Amino acid sequence: MCGIVGYVGKKNATPFLLDGLHALEYRGYDSAGLYVAGKGAVKRAGKVAALTAAVPSDFYGTAGIAHTRWATHGAPTETNAHPHTDEGGSVWLVHNGIIENYAELAAELHAGGATFKTETDSEVLAALVGKEVRAGQTLEDAVACALSRVRGTYGLAVMSVTEPEKIVVARLGSPLLIGVAHGARFVASDATPLLPHTREVVYLEDGDLAVLTPDAHVVHRLDGGTATRASAHLDWSVEAAEKNGQEHFMLKEMLEIPETIERALAGRLGKDGTVTLGGVKDMRAPLRGARRIVLTGCGSAAYSAQIGATLIERFAGIPCEVVLASELRYRPFLIDPKDTVLIAVSQSGETLDTLEAVREAKRHGVPTLGIVNVVGSTISRETDASIYLHAGPEISVATTKAFIGQATVLALLALSLAETHDQTNDETRAFARELGRSPSLARATLSARDSIATLAQKYANVSGAFFLGRGAETPIAFEGALKLKEVSYIHAEGYPAGEMKHGPIALLDPEFLVVALAPGDALFEKMRSNLQEAAARGCRTIAVTTPEHQEELARLADDVIVIPKTHEALLPFLTVLPLQLFAYEVAKARGCHIDQPRNLAKSVTVE
Ligand code: M6R
Repeated sequence: MCGIVGYVGKKNATPFLLDGLHALEYRGYDSAGLYVAGKGAVKRAGKVAALTAAVPSDFYGTAGIAHTRWATHGAPTETNAHPHTDEGGSVWLVHNGIIENYAELAAELHAGGATFKTETDSEVLAALVGKEVRAGQTLEDAVACALSRVRGTYGLAVMSVTEPEKIVVARLGSPLLIGVAHGARFVASDATPLLPHTREVVYLEDGDLAVLTPDAHVVHRLDGGTATRASAHLDWSVEAAEKNGQEHFMLKEMLEIPETIERALAGRLGKDGTVTLGGVKDMRAPLRGARRIVLTGCGSAAYSAQIGATLIERFAGIPCEVVLASELRYRPFLIDPKDTVLIAVSQSGETLDTLEAVREAKRHGVPTLGIVNVVGSTISRETDASIYLHAGPEISVATTKAFIGQATVLALLALSLAETHDQTNDETRAFARELGRSPSLARATLSARDSIATLAQKYANVSGAFFLGRGAETPIAFEGALKLKEVSYIHAEGYPAGEMKHGPIALLDPEFLVVALAPGDALFEKMRSNLQEAAARGCRTIAVTTPEHQEELARLADDVIVIPKTHEALLPFLTVLPLQLFAYEVAKARGCHIDQPRNLAKSVTVE
């Protein structure tokens, strides 16, 4: 859950390390530090800016490693910040992941006379490596030896003061990739910091250990031998990873939603409504034979999976179930590999629970399909096949464009399954046509941004909020509530509206907000009644609806947000957009850290 960067070459490492940490700050931002060969280490609690301010201007060296932290073991203090070193200061190490047996290793080292300065599991690893280096091992052998003692997960970069032109990196469960340039090698937790420097990258796999020097990188397997890892070309633009002049990444990414949908549809949705999904070619037989589909993911990804499940059931007639990945891992595994497919939805492709759910399914022989944004991510590589969102980097911790990208890809999958299960009919064709129009519908919906900003001012101080939906709008109620609580810190819950009278309605009072998702679908009248019930309790109310119901809902609700009319099954793609904007604007009105909300990280690579 942390960010790692490293550089070994002929130029000054420090500017790359600091810029790289800024680019990776979404992965963790409670403390940061760097080590530069010949200079030593600087660490600071707080954001990367605090570290940048503390690094002296003459901090020059041609190799170094750096880390931005999201604490798992030990408070986010300067002492606990990475890089960590051994007692003699002979090695420096940055680590992402968790060493599960660190307490027993620490006790063993302690019995041999070692003492520790920090509360972290990572320092134990530094001590193990340092011990081997002092015994005369090369850095790579020392790291391999230390890792053979470790249970847990790691993305690791290590340097030794006696071999200053070398970085040893290793990966098990936490992502790492190498950037290749003339006379330089880079390492990073994801591609973003590398974009200004190189497009040639090598993705490490679990169990890899690589030795980086300015002119070479050699990949070994921790269980013996060397490995050949082909390089890949990055086609993300540098600008795509920056804010494009917007105040926050979250806003920039919301404004990219129409283009995100276009990119997800490009080359896949034909003018005649047929769907071509290159990514699933290895999965054709299991998908054709699927009698049941289990979708999994975490947080927003689980909610977009619910949108997908509704669409697959509606258009392809295949029963679907959405199970949170963190639950699926520990339930009795009752998924039949003969006729069931597991679909894992993940923007980052690195979420640990989702990855482990995939692994569990694979252990039981269940075919697995990933719906992933980050190319080369672990889930994309470990599933039997993957469909990419092509949404470009999503930096804001709160997902927006990737949520829509996931829903779009799942809509394509639903249409494709309708074809393979002989369910194509006028309704699927009408939906496909409307899906093709969805980028312009999304653009029209987002144009309400200014009026939503005004609404946000009005509701920025509510005591709490319910988001209510029915049927296809239920996942949007969940997502609207998650978005609001995540970025504005207002307590918000999403409910299927029919559940209100079973308890939650007791909370309604004049300070409380109810957002009712009531577009013109088959359940409109039920939602109108639920809105009426809420308004009768004197709480504050916003209705999200389509133009034909604007007038009547304006008589019931304090405010109405209008989205364009579209195919009923596509409405959730639009109703979610004002909720994302609303959460953003409320958070802005409340002065919150929008792109990096407290206690959160973009990619959750621990349980
Ligand atoms: O990278 P993933 O899609 O696997 O991430 C899953 C969740 O952690 C993520 O969607 C999270 O809920 C977002 N912060 C919500 O905005």
